[in-house]
Amino acid sequence: VSLKPYTTFGIEAKSRYFIDIQTVEELVEALAQSGGQEILILGGGSNMLLTKDFPGLAIRISIPGITIVREEGDDVWVKAGAGVVWHQLVLQTLGMDLCGLENLSLIPGFVGASPMQNIGAYGVEIKDVMDELEAVHRTTGERKIFRNEDCRFGYRESIFKHELKGQYVIVSVTFRLSRVPKLHIAYGDIQKTLQEMGVAEITPKAVSDAVIHIRQSKLPDPAVLGNAGSFFKNPEIPRAQYDDLKAVHSDLPGYPAGEGRVKVPAGWLIERAGWKGYRDGAVGVHDRQALVIVNFGGATGAQVRDLSAKVQASVFEKYGINLQPEVNFI
Ligand code: EPU
Repeated sequence: VSLKPYTTFGIEAKSRYFIDIQTVEELVEALAQSGGQEILILGGGSNMLLTKDFPGLAIRISIPGITIVREEGDDVWVKAGAGVVWHQLVLQTLGMDLCGLENLSLIPGFVGASPMQNIGAYGVEIKDVMDELEAVHRTTGERKIFRNEDCRFGYRESIFKHELKGQYVIVSVTFRLSRVPKLHIAYGDIQKTLQEMGVAEITPKAVSDAVIHIRQSKLPDPAVLGNAGSFFKNPEIPRAQYDDLKAVHSDLPGYPAGEGRVKVPAGWLIERAGWKGYRDGAVGVHDRQALVIVNFGGATGAQVRDLSAKVQASVFEKYGINLQPEVNFI
């Protein structure tokens, strides 16, 4: 089965078997009957790069549903199925006058993948709004609840990328939202954009609109140009290394990142290494956000991987910083 329609990079690759599941029961059954073959879990496919055909079973998680499960004072707990499109959840909760997800507008992908890499944008991460999630163990079929603290969230990190890598399939996620707006607008261009948009009253919906506006102005729409968002993570380097680099590159941006460390924008490093707008046949570096690698159409996973390796090598040569991919290579 061609997996091209199931990943945002739009790269041609096949899996031997494919099944689309709508319920937890169907998932448990599919896992039980998989007979020890390799399994690839597909959500929105917005953070993966297929570099070759997959010899086993691809399971697409399409579990639907958005429901209020609890209310207490101004707080409202909303549970969403892993197959819900992330941005649909954002829009629907805003439509219910619930605040919390507005900064995370227009992030591609499904709900189920959102905790895996603790998705984040404009100063808010999943870990700030998630209460708990339910997951199914891939080999035992056991259903388990993970509380927020069990997930060991970090910058684009969770326990599901480390100790529990490849062990669980997330089937639903419950968010704790609020009827009272608690807005986060300090980050980046949000305030400037709200002003430019002539917003009179700053509501969660207005913040969402501003985020959508900013994202559309620099991030390519995967439906038009294949991509997986930021290809690399923003590196966190020791303060001493940052100071040494800053002495040579005086305009190097940097943000405090915990004890003695500084987070440097990978997009800046890649742009300054000369890659922004670079194109080699079907692959290239986006001309408005250097952190995004794009498929102009017909690219292979290997071509994307090779370009990313070149970018990595050149940034390392110029700045001594080793960029780590955010995208999962399959
Ligand atoms: N920059 C450049 N050139 C570029 C791109 C960025 O110099 O081509 C520098 C600028 O200094 C800019 C800074 O990088 O001020 C930050 O850029 P931006 O606000 O676009 O954010 P980012 O750090 O590149 C991160 C996330 C995005 C998220 C935005 C907004 C990571 C790996 N990426 O990108 O998440 O949308 O912040 O919060 O943390 C994703 O993970 O797929 C993703 C798109």
